[in-house]
Formats: sequence, C-alpha cells, structure tokens
Amino acid sequence: IVAFLSPKPLAGKRVVVTAGPTFEALDPIRGITNHSSGKMGFAIARAAREAGAQVTLVAGPVHLPTPRGVDRVDVKSARQMLDATLAAVPRADVFVATAAVADWRPANEAGQKIKKDGSGQAPTLSFVENPDILLTVAQTERAKKRELFCVGFAAESHDLLAHAQAKRVRKGIPLLAGNIGPLTFGQDDNQLLLVDEQGAHELPRAPKLQLARTLVVEIARRMSGLPG
Ligand code: CTP
Ligand code: CA
Repeated sequence: IVAFLSPKPLAGKRVVVTAGPTFEALDPIRGITNHSSGKMGFAIARAAREAGAQVTLVAGPVHLPTPRGVDRVDVKSARQMLDATLAAVPRADVFVATAAVADWRPANEAGQKIKKDGSGQAPTLSFVENPDILLTVAQTERAKKRELFCVGFAAESHDLLAHAQAKRVRKGIPLLAGNIGPLTFGQDDNQLLLVDEQGAHELPRAPKLQLARTLVVEIARRMSGLPG
C-alpha cells in the first residue's frame, strides 16, 4: 500500500552526491589523486533521480557520462568539492558522500613546473590535511536536526564493522555504507555493509546500480520514519 501511494520514494526531495577522487595539484602538471572510479556515486545519483529526486552530483575528475536528468558540477580539489557541496546542501534533503576525497594535499602548489636541480636529490614534499566535507556538512544545524539526512561511505582494509561503526559515530551521521571485501575500485559490482544506530546489515554483492537503488530505498524509509 505504501508502494502504491508513493511509487517514487524520493519524489520532491533534493539530493546532493559527491563522487570520484579529488586531484590535489603539486605544480601545473603534477598532482596527487587516487583510483576511485566514481561509479558508485554516479549510480547513486542515477538511482536517486529515478526515485523522483532533484539531484546535484559534485564530481571529481572521472570519465563517466552524467546520468540523465542529473545536475553535475565538476571539481578537481577537495577544497573545490567542499565549496560546490556547501553551495548545494542548504536546499537539500539528503547528502550522500561517496567521494574518495584526498585526506592530504601538498602544502604548497608551485606556480611553475618543479625542475630537477641536477644534484640528484629528490624534493621533499610536505602535506596539509584537507577539509572533511562530510564532517563539515554533518555539523550544520540542518544536518543535526535531521532536516538534511547525511550518508557516508567507508573503504577499510580491515575490521570493517568496528571501523564503520566508529566512523559513523565520529561523523555524527545516521547511516554509513562500508565497502565489504577487496577494494572494488573501477568494478561494476560491489558489496556493502550498512551501519546505523540499530546495528549493521549486509547488502550482498550486486551491480552498483542495483545496490544504489536499494540504498535509495533504505534512505527514503529512514527519512519517512517507517519501520523496515
Ligand atoms: N570524506 C569527506 N571529506 C574528506 C574525507 C572523507 O567528505 N576529506 C567522506 C567520504 O566521502 C566518506 C567518508 O567521509 O563518505 C569516510 O571517508 P574515509 O576516507 O573512509 O574516512 P576518513 O574520515 O577520511 O578517515 P580515514 O581515511 O583515516 O579512515
Ligand atoms: Ca580518508
């Protein structure tokens, strides 16, 4: 009956998704990035749109087509991703952080290409910590009042359950999805562990789009306050 009354679980909602890696410049031609493909975030943007939401996708440098009907903002660095996200979340009902944001960036971006100086000595790089986009959004008043429902992701190499639960609490968010098993960068399927206040439950290995659709339903159900 609920499905009949509301065929689109996120109808009328606004959703913001971050996706992909960030790129942190070292000089005009070099930088630091990671292997995130962006596929999970793009799948979530698509699934949210299919579920009736108006979707803003804040994408780091990836080679993926924009899902139909989704507004896309392309960024490179973590700081640009933060700015684009903060511009979009004040009107949003849901924020899903799937981006693999670089935790650190080079302390200085050289204005010109860094050249070998002929001494055989490699340069020493120093780093500074990037802003935590999810934490920043989760600490806004609307997120604390659950007017903005925040969802995080976590890729852990070990002790997923413990790390995911601790991360959810540390970030002060209602829901966190942990990537289970071998790192799945670039693959078309995935396996997730959903962690919330009640505990944890597993979404078995499936194509990322199918997992994204399930996640969207899980988010909508929690926002409506209906039991599972
Ligand atoms: N995240 C973010 N901004 C950052 C770092 C992480 O928005 N600067 C978000 C990610 O998009 C993800 C969640 O926070 O939804 C968890 O990211 P993860 O890298 O697993 O956790 P960290 O808090 O960065 O901790 P660590 O990497 O040390 O495990
Ligand atoms: Ca991190």
